[in-house]
Amino acid sequence: MKQDSTLVNFEQLFKQIAPEDINDNVFTLVGKDFYVVTAGKANDYNSMVASGGGMGMTVTKPHTWCIFPTNRYTLELIQKEHRYTLSYFPDEYKKQMLFLGSKSGRTSDKMNEVELTSVQTPSGNIAFREARLIIECKLTQISDANFDDFYSPEAKNYLREPYQDPGEHRKYVFGEITHVWVKR
Ligand SMILES: Cc1cc2nc3c(=O)[nH]c(=O)nc-3n(C[C@H](O)[C@H](O)[C@H](O)COP(=O)(O)O)c2cc1C
Repeated sequence: MKQDSTLVNFEQLFKQIAPEDINDNVFTLVGKDFYVVTAGKANDYNSMVASGGGMGMTVTKPHTWCIFPTNRYTLELIQKEHRYTLSYFPDEYKKQMLFLGSKSGRTSDKMNEVELTSVQTPSGNIAFREARLIIECKLTQISDANFDDFYSPEAKNYLREPYQDPGEHRKYVFGEITHVWVKR
C-alpha cells in the first residue's frame, strides 16, 4: 500500500458533490460493484470489502447503511472512531477490493499488502486515490439483529447457520453522509 495523504492532492483529485447528485444505481453500486469500508486513523486504519447495505433517509438526514457480522475488525474501528468512509472503484480494481475481503486486518498486515493508495480527506478520514466515488460517514446508529427479527423463510434459511456463531450475528450500521466526493 502506498500513502498519498496531502490535502492539496485530495482536492485536486476529487470534487465534492451533494448526496442528491450521486448518479449511480444503488443496487449496482452496492450489490454488483461492491465497495470498501475504511475506518481508523491515518497511522492505524483498516478496510474491508462489502456487498450489503444501501442508502436513504433516516433521522431526517441522508445516510448509508452497512451490515456487519460482529467479528469484523473494521466494525470495531467504526465503533471506536465514529467516522468511516465508503469507497467505490472502477471495475479494474476488483482484485484489490476482493483482497480486502480475503482476511481480517486484526490478524494480518493486509493494509500494507494491498495494491491501493490511501488518501486522507480534508476531514481526516482515510479513503483511496483509485476510487471513483467516496462517501464519508458519521456513525449515528448500530442496531443488533436477532435471529427472530428476520421473518421471511428465505432470510431465516440464509442466516440460520451463521447465527450458530455469536461472531456472525449481524449489526446494522447507519452513518450520516457528511461528504460525497467524485473523481475529477
Ligand atoms: C464480495 C464480498 C462481499 C462482502 N460483503 C460483506 C458485507 O457486506 N459485510 C461484511 O461484514 N463483510 C462482507 N464481506 C466479508 C469481509 O470483507 C471480510 O470478512 C473481511 O476480511 C473483514 O475484514 P476485517 O476483519 O479486517 O474488517 C464480503 C466479502 C466479499 C469477498
